Amino acid sequence: MAWVVPAVQTVHILAVAAVITSALMINLQLLGVGGRERAVASTTNRFVSYLWWSLPVLLATGVTLIIGEPARVLKSPVFLLKMGLLIAAVSVMLVCRTPLQGGKAFWDLNGRRRWAVRCIAAASLTLWVAIIFAGRWIAYVQDA
Ligand code: HEM
Repeated sequence: MAWVVPAVQTVHILAVAAVITSALMINLQLLGVGGRERAVASTTNRFVSYLWWSLPVLLATGVTLIIGEPARVLKSPVFLLKMGLLIAAVSVMLVCRTPLQGGKAFWDLNGRRRWAVRCIAAASLTLWVAIIFAGRWIAYVQDA
């Protein structure tokens, strides 16, 4: 059964790829990278479902990896940091998406809101990259 952990890690990494690709496509466009300004709603709608659907896959594979080596992961302070960053990243995505329920043009209405959504995009990108770093760092930081 030596193939189980590498197989689960592979699925975890593939789901990470889906999350970070969606986060990059959404946030780089919100930051105006890639030229033409697009409406926030159409930008997020195009990619957000890939991100949302990848999270349950990450949770299932992540929990499987924890069951495989509980002490190693749960004793790592970096794992707690990673989960905290994940809650923050999902909250930031909801801060961006929720106002759109009330009106698709919410963030496009004026320059001030456009500036605000750029700050949200920068924060979101930083958080997702930090989660990936923390995910890799878990293996290197063990509580004594
Ligand atoms: C949803 C809850 C999640 C749980 C419970 C979870 C749990 C885990 C666990 C237990 C490991 C193995 C650590 C080790 O033994 O070294 C891991 C690795 C990793 N995780 Fe997660 N994770 C989750 C979400 C995420 C997310 C959202 C990302 C990034 C967007 C991510 C990125 C990574 C990376 C890059 C690794 C290292 C993979 C490797 O080198 O094999 N994880 N995760």
